[in-house]
Amino acid sequence: MNINILKLESVDSTNTEAIKQARAGASEGLCVIARQQTAGRGRQGRSWVSDPDSGLYFSMVLRPRIEGRLLPLITLMAGIAVHDTLAGFGLKPDIKWVNDLLVEDKKICGILAEAVETPAGLAVIVGIGINLRSDNFPSELAATATSIEAVTGLRLTADDLARPLTDQLSEHYSVLQQGHTETIIDRWRQRSTFFSGKAIKVDIAGTSIEGVTDGLEANGALRVRMPNGDLRIVQAGDVHQLRQRKIEL
Ligand code: BTN
Repeated sequence: MNINILKLESVDSTNTEAIKQARAGASEGLCVIARQQTAGRGRQGRSWVSDPDSGLYFSMVLRPRIEGRLLPLITLMAGIAVHDTLAGFGLKPDIKWVNDLLVEDKKICGILAEAVETPAGLAVIVGIGINLRSDNFPSELAATATSIEAVTGLRLTADDLARPLTDQLSEHYSVLQQGHTETIIDRWRQRSTFFSGKAIKVDIAGTSIEGVTDGLEANGALRVRMPNGDLRIVQAGDVHQLRQRKIEL
């Protein structure tokens, strides 16, 4: 894949810009990076705080050949690529299903993958936000989010991360394009403590379930073993780790 980077000072959202570029015919491998976003978007309609130079705000155009039902694996693939990028700078990240990178149980990166129809066929935009510093996080984020600087003391820039990240994305995406979807599941298993045996609560469309993780389906959906032994397959939802409850004797 040919990597081509479009660098912007400021944009509403690098994902929105990459969608426009894909609709206008951009090839796979176009990456949009901005120093700040004025309307950064998170999952489920949430916003993504995007102060100037406080994070890497990055979106890549992909034109996957895999079957539609396997498209969710692109999010897992991106999580693996971010994991390995951060590990290259000495961090020890965990991946919380489906797309959050955590360090010391706090969120350091979020991923928003969006599929769009374009005249040249389906494109998937992989949007990645990595927190570089957290000194001006709003108070509601300070308790649940962290940054590369807070964890390592390193004052990295978006430019420092862009090349290692595109290298990792190219490497793991090529595995997916060659149809080795089980390799992506296996790489995710090796990098995430959420793969199995984790007590979690999942918020799904206004309701929630509690159970223990029990691996992933072939398309990346999360298998959750319920207290009564039933298996629930979660295609989309917000996962929260449950802490061991103390039992009063
Ligand atoms: C989430 O965890 O809710 C996903 C957050 C994704 C944020 C990134 S920042 C770059 C790209 N542009 C956006 O508007 N969103 C993604």
